[in-house]
Amino acid sequence: MPMKVKSVNSIAVLGAQWGDEGKGKIVDYLTRRADVVARFQGGNNAGHTVVVGAETFKMHHLPVGILHSGVLCLLGNGMVIDPEVLVNELAGLEERGVDTSCLRISPRAHVILPFHRAVDISEEASKTGMKIGTTGRGIGPAYADKAYRRGLRMGDYVNHERFCSWLEEALPLQNRILREVFGHPGFEKEEILQLHRPLGEKLAPYLADTSLLLMEHLQKGERILFEGAQGALLDIDHGTYPFVTSSNTISGSIFTGLGISPLNTVGEILGVTKAYTTRVGEGPYPTEEKSTLGDRIRERGREYGTTTGRPRRCGWFDAVVARYSARINGFTGWGVTKLDVMGGFKTLPVAGAYRLDGREISDPPVALEDYWRCEPVYQELPGWDEDISAARRMEQLPPEAHSYLQAMEDLTGVKIALVSVGPEREQTILVPGASLATFINNF
Ligand code: IMP
Repeated sequence: MPMKVKSVNSIAVLGAQWGDEGKGKIVDYLTRRADVVARFQGGNNAGHTVVVGAETFKMHHLPVGILHSGVLCLLGNGMVIDPEVLVNELAGLEERGVDTSCLRISPRAHVILPFHRAVDISEEASKTGMKIGTTGRGIGPAYADKAYRRGLRMGDYVNHERFCSWLEEALPLQNRILREVFGHPGFEKEEILQLHRPLGEKLAPYLADTSLLLMEHLQKGERILFEGAQGALLDIDHGTYPFVTSSNTISGSIFTGLGISPLNTVGEILGVTKAYTTRVGEGPYPTEEKSTLGDRIRERGREYGTTTGRPRRCGWFDAVVARYSARINGFTGWGVTKLDVMGGFKTLPVAGAYRLDGREISDPPVALEDYWRCEPVYQELPGWDEDISAARRMEQLPPEAHSYLQAMEDLTGVKIALVSVGPEREQTILVPGASLATFINNF
């Protein structure tokens, strides 16, 4: 097989903030036209709610592409997979008549087992000081075992003998940690095997060399969608460490998380940002609005987590975060979501810089201690009262909304390709003249 891809027709959709930017809706919008949708990092800490007609689907592991027949859905090696959750998701879809035969899982992806969840929850509960606010899904401990070189990969999980011997070796240490450090009762080997044997049998037929498959589809010039989870500021290296998730969430992770070359494989990179900001869990957040205005954003934007139901912290648009995110991801355009939520405010503060120790800075500080002390330097933009959720063209937006979007572009140096004014597919405006919008239109 030639090593290089000649013409590339692929797009990555990535979160630019702290997750929950509304990627699900945009991915769904694009998926209808994609041949392949690939996830490359994270696990079931992600969550999408997709409404198709009268039916609501909640998915954590599976890409939205699974709802569209014929779309090949790949779960890459960079992911961590909880078989209990994945099999449940598949069963739920099959019951409702969805064909799941187009799913392929990398045998190199790591497995989340009950003790990973138990450690995740126990460790958070035992912290007296800084809690991370994890989703409690065992994501961190599963990635930690991978880095420790003592994890279990999907290829070994679905082979019962190999799974048994791995568990024999691994469980005593996991139980010691649980019992001695956290006072948890631990797990019985037989109990785990009994639960997991049928799950492994169910998942075995889905395993395939996803790296090779993806390369074959790229070679054919097919439409490939790379679906990110979480957001840039939750990236384990580039986010607000340690208040981050345990994987790399930025564009670079596509290559390691799927086993493809960075050369000519990702054509466009759409950064998804809300017109404001939200964050679940702990960590620094300079533009958080703690007054009733923040509550208003939460209620208007229905800002409660898909995975945990937690109320999200809400605040104003942070161009420092967006600019940084655009740089480390290489965004070729913005998808701005939830612009409708910004209606009804007299003025809209937008942070173009932070103030730290009396100095203005335009990039997020590296040290957490500094990040906590940053104050946003706001410019106030005029708000609008109109309900814009029925707008389908840019001309239908009020002039104040135009200046708001213009400020987002000016402060970040990235053009807006798409604006979303509500949860429905039709409530999406492609911005005429933006090159990424043209790409999306032809995708
Ligand atoms: P973990 O990924 O469960 O370990 O959680 C680590 C941090 O990332 C916590 O602050 C979570 O709230 C956050 N997080 C993880 N996944 C998501 C997501 O999909 N959306 C938003 N926040 C997330």
